[in-house]
Amino acid sequence: MPIIPQHAIGGVITGWGTALPSKIVTNEDLSKTMDTTDEWIRERTGIHRRHIGGSTADLSVESGRIAMEMAGVLPDQIDALVLSTTTPDRQVPATSATVQNLLGLKCGAFDINAACSGFVYGLVVAHGLIAMGSKKVLLIGTDTLSRITDWTDRNTAILFADGSGAAVIEATHGPSELLGWDLDADGSAEDLLYAEIGGNIHMDGKEVFRRAVRIMVDSAQKSMQVAGVTADDIALIVPHQANTRIISAACDRLGIPMERTSTVLHETGNTSSASIPLALFDAANGGPMSGRTLREGDLVLVVGFGAGMTAASAVIRWNGKGLRA
Ligand code: ACO
Repeated sequence: MPIIPQHAIGGVITGWGTALPSKIVTNEDLSKTMDTTDEWIRERTGIHRRHIGGSTADLSVESGRIAMEMAGVLPDQIDALVLSTTTPDRQVPATSATVQNLLGLKCGAFDINAACSGFVYGLVVAHGLIAMGSKKVLLIGTDTLSRITDWTDRNTAILFADGSGAAVIEATHGPSELLGWDLDADGSAEDLLYAEIGGNIHMDGKEVFRRAVRIMVDSAQKSMQVAGVTADDIALIVPHQANTRIISAACDRLGIPMERTSTVLHETGNTSSASIPLALFDAANGGPMSGRTLREGDLVLVVGFGAGMTAASAVIRWNGKGLRA
């Protein structure tokens, strides 16, 4: 397990932003076009409605701009753009190149694809860039899963949606917000959840569910161990927003009650790379969707899982608009 070196330059989130398409599709809407019901979807997933529309670049620009404004950072001050997405707008170039241009950034830009664990992978990569000398990194998690969803398949169409979340992470003279992290993948399980290039998502929902609980718990425990904290110390857990029953089973095994869990999936569905930032920054904004509030100094555990099958987690000391270097 990687231990963060004492001498590493740390990073803190100094601004954040989110974006959801304006078009809302309810469970009732879906029940008009496929053999399902509002009641089934609510009970089996926790999802009530979802936002659909837009491109990955447009949603990223919207959330990224809000994050930079909040941080008070100008486009030419950003040293690197990291965009987590499984739904790039084009095969080539990376969508981060489009976003870099539209935001007026003058820096390196690249996409990462770790499915629904992508934002946490990006968080670790961003802190790694800061440890290597970057001062300000823009991290964005965006997915437009509606574009790779078969809207006649009730197994997947009830789950997936579109959204974006962004953070400006800046180098700090003080302690890093990142206290522990863990990244994991098991490529032998890739056939459980995949989309061919140009194709739609195929999923073995039951098996993904079963493994998701196990790998989330395993990853979260590793991060807490590295950070030297226990479940009792965690003020808020922000899990991947896939299914309330997965979240509840994982939290139960971790010993973290649902009252200390941020969930927004009833409003957003599963937005993959955007899922964790949407739930994290909702709590940072006082919880309009989650009803949870983050306070300066809180210990936050973010934990995701996704196709690949990836898992990723991190323990963060929430510092609001923390100290900059
Ligand atoms: N509406 C009504 N009935 C349905 C629906 C639906 N949308 N879907 C399935 N059913 C039926 C089934 O046919 C079955 O009927 P039967 O008992 O007569 O055979 C019954 O409901 C139960 O079906 P299950 O598949 O056992 O339902 P389950 O409780 O497992 O829920 C679900 C399915 C919601 C897909 C669940 O397995 C799940 O959430 N899995 C995890 C998926 C996930 O998180 N994927 C994202 C990973 S992240 C990423 O990388 C994108």
